[in-house]
Amino acid sequence: MNLIDYPRWPSLARESILNVPTDLRSIKLSVEGKVIDYGGEIDSVVITGMGGSGVVGDIINDLCWFWDCRVPIIVSKNMRLPKRLSRPLVIAISYSGNTAETIMSTNEALSRGYPVIGITTGGKLSTVLGSKGVPVILVPKASAPRYGLPALLYPALVVLERFGVASVTNELESGISGIENALKRIDDAVNLAKQLVNSVPVVWVTESRRGVGIRFKNDLNENAKYYSVVSVIPEGAHNDIAAVTTKQVGLKHVAIMGLNDYEGLYEEVLIDVISSFGARPIIIKLEGNTPLETEMYGVTFLGMVTLALAELLGVEPVSTEPIDRLKNLLSERRVFQV
Ligand code: PA5
Repeated sequence: MNLIDYPRWPSLARESILNVPTDLRSIKLSVEGKVIDYGGEIDSVVITGMGGSGVVGDIINDLCWFWDCRVPIIVSKNMRLPKRLSRPLVIAISYSGNTAETIMSTNEALSRGYPVIGITTGGKLSTVLGSKGVPVILVPKASAPRYGLPALLYPALVVLERFGVASVTNELESGISGIENALKRIDDAVNLAKQLVNSVPVVWVTESRRGVGIRFKNDLNENAKYYSVVSVIPEGAHNDIAAVTTKQVGLKHVAIMGLNDYEGLYEEVLIDVISSFGARPIIIKLEGNTPLETEMYGVTFLGMVTLALAELLGVEPVSTEPIDRLKNLLSERRVFQV
């Protein structure tokens, strides 16, 4: 199976953090007449980005269900930033650096006087931020944004440490172990992919592993060109579950099981219920000794499943023509020109 950049993920993670500036907290700049002091107190972290870059926010949000994160993480996937922010740190992530939504929300952050840190391989984001003296962490390239995930995630984690949001550095290597562990499961990935052929996957995941479910859906969409549904529980147990009696054909239930805590117990009950209606879900157990290890195991293993599925379907995984077309059309409209 062609794993594209996945075998490079451990080195992408390690290399990407070398470029995180050590003096982030001592930066002070002036943008549009407003002084932005990176040493000031923050009361939230906004992570803005789309698709394969934006999922970094979902993953960090998951981790904060386990870590003692000092401030809330706000995941923003839009051209605009949420209103009523008080003293946020904004982490702007765009692999290409050319995604209109991310550049627009980043510009809004700077106009509001918020400290911003860019994470990108270059592009306009790097030029725009660099021209204003805003710190930009340049990360190594991959074959497409989603294949560079560790290079986008790891610097963001180090930034959180530098701003005192969470103590993460002791866990970084365990995340890499999670990747390495998943990379050994090629046969399991192929077997799971075989079960998904000609289906619409219905992915059940607990709230604290929502990012793993979202990333799986995104990888199914982009690598295998597949639609799927993600149901996050407990909420999904109060609506999606009702559709288990559906007459729609081709649905394949997949339950991502995290740690054996009360969320895991809740999911066991949910699986009992949907099974009693004949659903026969495939169970995927996440493995790892730390929250980051488990998360990285999940996103890596399920990503490999989507590559195996693409291969079984004879689908070319890297290109995403409809996304490119959308980006091109947006760039023709003046309002999205960045
Ligand atoms: O994985 C992909 O190719 C997409 O989901 C992109 O990440 C998305 O279109 C945003 O682009 P970028 O990550 O370059 O900002």
